[in-house]
Amino acid sequence: MPETLAEPTDRSAVRSLLRLWPYVRPVRARWFAAAFVAVLASCLGLVIPLILKWMVDGPVADRDPGGVWLGALYLLLLGLVEAGLFGLRRWLVARPLAGVEASLRADLYRHLQRLPVAFHDRWPSGQLLSRGTTDLMLLRMFLAFPLTFLLVNATTILVGFVILFAQQWTLGLVLLAPAVPLMVLCSLFETKYSLVARKAQDQVGDLTTVVEESVLGIRIVKGFGRNRSQAQAFRALAQRLRGTELHKARLLAWIWALITVIPELAIGAALVLGTIEVADGGLSAGTLVAFLSTALALRWPVESIGFLLAMSQESATAADRYFEVMDVAEEPSTAKDGTRDGAPDGAPDDASDGARDGAKDGARAGGDAEAGLVFDGVEFRYPDAAPGSVPVLARIDLRVRPGETMALVGATGSGKTTLTALVPRLHDLTGGRILLDGEDIADLERSRLRELVSVAFEEPTLFSATVGENVLMGAEGAGEEELRRALSVAQADFVDDLPHGVDTQVGEQGLSLSGGQRQRLALARAVVGRPRFLILDDPLSALDVHTEALVEAALRRVLEGTTALVVAHRPSTVMLADRVALLSGGRISAVGTHQELLRTHTEYAWLMSGAQSPRSADGRTAVATAEEGSTR
Ligand SMILES: Nc1ncnc2c1ncn2[C@@H]1O[C@H](COP(=O)(O)OP(=O)(O)OP(=O)(O)O)[C@@H](O)[C@H]1O
Ligand SMILES: [Mg+2]
Repeated sequence: MPETLAEPTDRSAVRSLLRLWPYVRPVRARWFAAAFVAVLASCLGLVIPLILKWMVDGPVADRDPGGVWLGALYLLLLGLVEAGLFGLRRWLVARPLAGVEASLRADLYRHLQRLPVAFHDRWPSGQLLSRGTTDLMLLRMFLAFPLTFLLVNATTILVGFVILFAQQWTLGLVLLAPAVPLMVLCSLFETKYSLVARKAQDQVGDLTTVVEESVLGIRIVKGFGRNRSQAQAFRALAQRLRGTELHKARLLAWIWALITVIPELAIGAALVLGTIEVADGGLSAGTLVAFLSTALALRWPVESIGFLLAMSQESATAADRYFEVMDVAEEPSTAKDGTRDGAPDGAPDDASDGARDGAKDGARAGGDAEAGLVFDGVEFRYPDAAPGSVPVLARIDLRVRPGETMALVGATGSGKTTLTALVPRLHDLTGGRILLDGEDIADLERSRLRELVSVAFEEPTLFSATVGENVLMGAEGAGEEELRRALSVAQADFVDDLPHGVDTQVGEQGLSLSGGQRQRLALARAVVGRPRFLILDDPLSALDVHTEALVEAALRRVLEGTTALVVAHRPSTVMLADRVALLSGGRISAVGTHQELLRTHTEYAWLMSGAQSPRSADGRTAVATAEEGSTR
């Protein structure tokens, strides 16, 4: 998988650009029509020297003013037709190519939504943003200009040389001489330019990331007075990008200079030789004029090849960067396809009493014992974890009975968030299985899983939409009644005091809400669809204890049939749960009621009160947690 942002070594610009064909296919008729019109217009320009020849050898030599006027009229008409044709070309391609860009962008967006969370953990958002904006713009421009004009110019040069050779083949040969060195130079240029272009585009991505971070983190930047250091970081990156762009400009200047000077020398030589031939009487003055003006007309098509090639290289790089993301596999609908390791080996189980709570037996025996939420030998390691490191979750065996609320307690960094993220399959397990009423989540269609399980995360995220829309995101097809119910469960009555009630715009562009208000909306979003399983990652941490109690009470009343796993840090949250599970050292080390665990489990008592020093069997964890705990 090309997930690293390393420079590609073996690539072909043509192959990269050919991958755009499926997107161009629907508009191919218009594109080819436009290209044909452009070729026609460009070749029409080559007729002008022929009219000049006719004028010089005819009316001018014969001193016939009427003929000169007629010639001038022809020239004017030709110019008008040429301009008209180029206008027609633009009209033909503008709209379809905007469509191509839009569909490339829509596909990228759709794909990004379907990529696994692990992908987004790894890729900086600026790199994705720059691909969706700058790179796609480059691709549209490529289809509109460089691609068409490489074709147009090549045809024009070919036709031009046929005309030149027909006029005077010896002079034609003089002009053709520089072709070989120019081609060698162009290919050298392309190789060098492609590397620099890639570097520049990746640096734009890095720069975008820094800008995005400092805009999103503006409060931290200001609060800590880091404006200067942020600006320095930005300047350093901008300087690097500037250096790369200058390198690009130098390369372009070189090729441009050579492409301009070499043909110019050839034209000069042809002028001298041609004049001598006219003086000797071997060539008519009209032919020389036609010859030279054809050669001059070909100057632009030849000179522009340098920057057309440069733009094509940048577009090939843009295509590479685009398809790098598009080539990453999307999440499969179910996890059945065997990316998991399967059941882990039977490691000895030293969990304290009640930890297993019949989970394994339940999972095996089937029937009633399987009902509820069952973790069976769950093992998980982050994809980017160092090989050989201890997995975050080593072996989790736990059963939450149907309708039960289980609190999940553990020191910070013990893996609670990780465990909750496994249930809606934001990450795939590396071992073991999770059952929802007896069904393995790996076998469930993702859409079905989303129906069964609702989540509220530690960081309540609201989108730029109304309060109502944000909450109703939690359930498809839910209406006003469900919205009201969810808001009342989450004790989110503050909504009524907002300027437009549930229609108030919140999120990035809207009204800013307090942390606790946002948490309650996120909670309402989790419960609005009356899910069978509810996973809450410390969803009430920002609420005062009284509001928290009200929310818990409402949750219990309204969601009686719901099986819930709630991450908790505070005794107030824990006491509202039926039972508590303690996560420690990658396992569930104890399960019981709050009171039971307080009495029997020192690590638990320490976590909940901070009074006693833990005498846990796992000394390393205890020391680590004690240290972390003391900083809180
Ligand atoms: N995306 C990730 N990639 C790699 N490692 C991660 C990732 N997210 C978390 N971790 C690591 O996994 C471990 C468990 O993290 P997790 O967020 O599950 O802890 P937690 O119990 O929820 O802590 P807290 O109480 O502070 O919320 C930590 O050591 C963390 O560094
Ligand atoms: Mg957490």
